[in-house]
Formats: sequence, structure tokens, C-alpha cells
Amino acid sequence: MNEIEKNIRREFIHELISTHGAERTSLLPVLQEFQKKFGYIDGHSQQEIAFAMNIHPVEVNSIISFYSFLYESPRGRNTVRICRNIVCDFHGSNEIADAVRKEFKMNSGNTSGDGNITLEITNCFGLCDKSPSMIVNENVYEKIDKDSALKILRGL
Ligand code: FES
Repeated sequence: MNEIEKNIRREFIHELISTHGAERTSLLPVLQEFQKKFGYIDGHSQQEIAFAMNIHPVEVNSIISFYSFLYESPRGRNTVRICRNIVCDFHGSNEIADAVRKEFKMNSGNTSGDGNITLEITNCFGLCDKSPSMIVNENVYEKIDKDSALKILRGL
């Protein structure tokens, strides 16, 4: 990230803090609005937020790590969720997730090289009787297998 981009983010952080205040209770709305504008909360901006709110950067990072809807790295245009819990795992969800990572050449953040898909491995989303299932953005696909999952995702 170059200095111009850092300055844009720094100015926005100060705008957010002047709107929400610098108390700890303002941290979550500041992070949410920052992410809404920039898509994710990069490490440098986490430090800027911590400095501006007079809290430790570890605290900012721990909040981002705790909430699954806050992201530290760029996200794909589509979010794919595959359950990792015992019933889905028994029915092959891990193999499906591996096939998705391989097919779409995902990086360590589980986002495809073309920025189209981010894969999230989640806890049970309550569809155990139809496992393994997959949620793509708002759409649910039940009793998938490797081939059907890849076919769905190639169409995104
Ligand atoms: S264990 Fe996967 S949906 Fe419940």
C-alpha cells in the first residue's frame, strides 16, 4: 500500500472516530464502517485505528479475529461456506473444500487468484441432515459432492 492510500485510510479513520468517538465501545462500529468502505481491515490501518483510539493494536486485531464478519485480507466477490463439523466431515466436506481450493487456486486467505471466490470453512449451519451442504452467498445447496460443488462454483 502506498503513502497516498495510507493517508486516505488515515483520514477516514479520523472521520469515523469524530463521528463515533474514541471510546472502546466505538471500536466495533469504526471497524465495520472502515471495512464497508475498503472491503477489509489491513494491518497498517489496524495500527492507525489503535493509535487514534489509544488502545493496543492487539486489542483491535483480537476483535477482528473474533468476529467472523470482519476481515483482515481482501475478499472475493462471492462467499462460499462449507461446514467442517463432524456430520459434514463424515460425508466428505473436507475433500470438497480441498477440491475447491485446488480448482480455484486459492491463496492462504482462501480467496481465488481472480478475486471471484472466498471460501470460508465454518461451523455447523444446521443442515446436518442434508450434509454435506454449501452456502454460496445467500443460496443453499444440499447433499453436494465434489463434482456438483465445482460445477456450481464454475458458474459464478
Ligand atoms: S455438521 Fe455440517 S451442517 Fe451440521
